Amino acid sequence: MNLLIVGCGDLGTELGLRALAAGHRVHGLRRRAEVLPDAFLPISADLGADLPPLPPDIEVVVFTTAADSRDVDAYRRAYVTATGRVLDGLERAGSTPQRVLFTSSTAVYGVDDGSEVDEDTPTQPASATGEVLVEAEQALWARRPDAVSLRLAGVYGPGRTRLIDQVREGRARRPDRVIHTNRIHRDDAAAALLHLAGLPATPASPASSAGPATCYLGVDDEPAPLAEVVAFLAAELGLPPPPVGEVSRSRGGDKRCRNARLRGTGWVPAYPSYREGYRAVLAGEGTRHP
Ligand SMILES: NC(=O)c1ccc[n+]([C@@H]2O[C@H](COP(=O)([O-])OP(=O)(O)OC[C@H]3O[C@@H](n4cnc5c(N)ncnc54)[C@H](OP(=O)(O)O)[C@@H]3O)[C@@H](O)[C@H]2O)c1
Repeated sequence: MNLLIVGCGDLGTELGLRALAAGHRVHGLRRRAEVLPDAFLPISADLGADLPPLPPDIEVVVFTTAADSRDVDAYRRAYVTATGRVLDGLERAGSTPQRVLFTSSTAVYGVDDGSEVDEDTPTQPASATGEVLVEAEQALWARRPDAVSLRLAGVYGPGRTRLIDQVREGRARRPDRVIHTNRIHRDDAAAALLHLAGLPATPASPASSAGPATCYLGVDDEPAPLAEVVAFLAAELGLPPPPVGEVSRSRGGDKRCRNARLRGTGWVPAYPSYREGYRAVLAGEGTRHP
């Protein structure tokens, strides 16, 4: 297939490398396209401005752009405006992709009481940036009702060591209450996108307040209490368990995300829980892509 990855950073590059290995053609669009691996067909473009002509024969487009900052305007530019601009550019080029995939976030669910979340849970973001992601999905579905949104939990992986660093540096705390956290290894997120790109298109059901057209939660098999994860990391690092203490409200809330729908399509995570995933990161496996 002929793939266009928009906002081709760490996740997008990993997806592209996997697609190339499977024999596909990969265009990577970003401002610094010169840093992409050699086999990518680079498109240097700023999504905040007019785009150069896009290829005429794109079969699958995947949006993996990240906002430059956590403010609402940056989110709207990266997720709402840029997505529309790329679809306009593809139309002008005469490209009619059969598959459109969008990378979203479990931040669209504001659940904070430890309950289970799946694709049927109503979106009710607890943050303004989460609201923009809902807006971006809705805008995309209004235009492409068959677009697929992969709602990722916290992405960790090679070089993405925020929690490990907190433990190593003695800044981590075990919360005195149970806070469920959800995550996915970058490689499993990339594998999920490639897997979804290859699925036959499902008939589009119109997006409505009753539920989105097509979305999947991109999480591993095991929502895990934060206290358990930081204690595990400390043990792996040969350190005592972090002290119990006040933890600022987690951006991810307190929820238990289920991946049954994604698994039901045949996707199998290589890192089913934080244990396998963080062990691989601590062993130095893989590289973070620029
Ligand atoms: N991190 C998490 O825990 C998490 C959770 C849920 C969802 N996600 C989502 O996962 C996706 C991929 O994240 P990632 O980790 O791969 O991010 P990343 O490494 O920062 O990659 C995003 C890329 O977007 C490109 N980009 C940003 N603004 C652009 C612009 N104006 N024009 C063209 N390209 C632009 C950047 O490349 P240039 O600088 O070269 O332009 C950057 O490399 C994002 O959609 C993110 O929101 C992440």
